[in-house]
Amino acid sequence: MTLQIGNIALENRLFVAPMAGVTDRPFRMLCRELGAGYAVSEMVTSRKELWGSLKTSRRANHDGEPGPIAVQIAGTDAAMMAEAAQYNIDRGAQIIDINMGCPAKKVCNKWAGSALMRDEPLALEIVEAVVRAAMPHEVPVTLKMRTGWSEDQRNAVALARRFEGAGVQMLTVHGRTREQGYKGRAEYDTIAAVKAAVRVPVVANGDIHSPEKAREVFALTGADAVMVGRAAQGRPWIFREIAHFLANGTQLAPPLVAEVRRLMLDHLQQHYALYGDYSGVRTARKHIGWYVRALPGGEEFRARMNAIEDCDAQLEAVADFFDALAARMDRIPVSDGALVSTDEQAAEVLA
Ligand SMILES: Cc1cc2nc3c(=O)[nH]c(=O)nc-3n(C[C@H](O)[C@H](O)[C@H](O)COP(=O)(O)O)c2cc1C
Repeated sequence: MTLQIGNIALENRLFVAPMAGVTDRPFRMLCRELGAGYAVSEMVTSRKELWGSLKTSRRANHDGEPGPIAVQIAGTDAAMMAEAAQYNIDRGAQIIDINMGCPAKKVCNKWAGSALMRDEPLALEIVEAVVRAAMPHEVPVTLKMRTGWSEDQRNAVALARRFEGAGVQMLTVHGRTREQGYKGRAEYDTIAAVKAAVRVPVVANGDIHSPEKAREVFALTGADAVMVGRAAQGRPWIFREIAHFLANGTQLAPPLVAEVRRLMLDHLQQHYALYGDYSGVRTARKHIGWYVRALPGGEEFRARMNAIEDCDAQLEAVADFFDALAARMDRIPVSDGALVSTDEQAAEVLA
């Protein structure tokens, strides 16, 4: 079932969450290939002096990516955010997403991301400025936020109404407060309340780690789409598993070991092409670690693989690991859905 954002139709209602340091172009493309209908880029700073940096230019790389190209921007100054929107639209962004969901402490030496939810006038000023910049290009502006700053400042509903009034065309809500970081559990009542309060599509996010959980979150929130983050790390095929379960009520068989071998080797090659050999071999380790973490011998392989410093040797080690696994089993064991990522992981990749 498609979903409309402004004049853009999304393929389905299963989204991969923006994750800095994770959802780069190769990973987004893999998730799209495996059933995600929509993928937002990792956040791009509104600090102009960083736009030329290698990190930002990699994040702004959309070569060959299926549309719509959605770029998330982060910052604390309305004029700078408007300029960032314009800059990314000039480089092909078809949707601009404003980050008010990330718990990272500081962007631009000020509190940004979800911290903006505490400063409603500034949050609104940013939204208005970005919408004004994007509107002439007919580029929809969307926004991702949390349920509020803290337990006693859960203002997502009030903000959602104001953001909708200012022209935001889709809202994603992660069911935690800023104060929670990634601790505790996501709650879905506030997301349901946001959904009931606005007419624009609402996307539910937080702790969706299985097809059953996706169905439950749709039912609890009435949301138009669900967004999966950490559960897609090392398991990008979760999107087709969710799609199958929602359509048929039965579990799709886990992927064949041979298919995962092929997907991973292809992912690694795309990864090296984007980051170059030196960085590529190092930054690929986290993805490999996630792919193998629940597999027999995975932990030991991960430790061994961290010592490999050459792309060809890394590819060969992965191929050998999966060849050995294929000799023992046809399919990847069913995932327990545990979300292993923590605040530490987020802090590490957001640093
Ligand atoms: C490593 C990491 C990086 C993240 N980076 C971003 C980001 O750049 N922008 C953003 O809006 N949220 C970011 N998030 C939050 C996710 O988009 C998502 O809201 C959160 O992980 C909850 O969803 P999940 O339980 O499905 O993982 C990040 C999360 C993680 C774990």
